[in-house]
Amino acid sequence: MRDLSDVGKDLGGYELLAAQLEALLSGERDFIANASQFSAFIFHELPDLNWAGFYLCKDEELVLGPFQGKVACVRIPFGRGVCGAAAQTRETQRVEDVHAFAGHIACDSASNSELVIPLVKNDQLIGVLDLDSPSLGRFSPDDQRGIERLAEIFLAASDC
Ligand code: SME
Repeated sequence: MRDLSDVGKDLGGYELLAAQLEALLSGERDFIANASQFSAFIFHELPDLNWAGFYLCKDEELVLGPFQGKVACVRIPFGRGVCGAAAQTRETQRVEDVHAFAGHIACDSASNSELVIPLVKNDQLIGVLDLDSPSLGRFSPDDQRGIERLAEIFLAASDC
């Protein structure tokens, strides 16, 4: 039987983060408000990040949305860089070394690894969630699963 001290240890603490995020977003369905809260939550709760935020689909390209971190490039065509690859393939891109990724867009020279999760609701691509880290190989497969779960919670809690 699990006792309370085990809560949050699964997925390296992502279960606890999932419960905290559900509580944070409950009672509000505005997409931009929840995206802003979510980017701040991730940026401050997950260690070793230098950027966390959104690029949203507009007119066949990705446009910068709510984020935390240094100023970033504003528009990214589908298929360009890590974010564009996630948008085009609708598959999470977990990049251990961004310098080895063909076409990587260097917004912040401090970034060395990156995780980009496509946001799909009702078969529609809404945008991508982009996390950058100054450490090489920052994002493990467990991080990917845990953060994909957080992105699902955000999408379910928000009107698009
Ligand atoms: N590095 C990203 C661009 C966005 S910034 O990291 C915020 C990419 O190659 O898609």
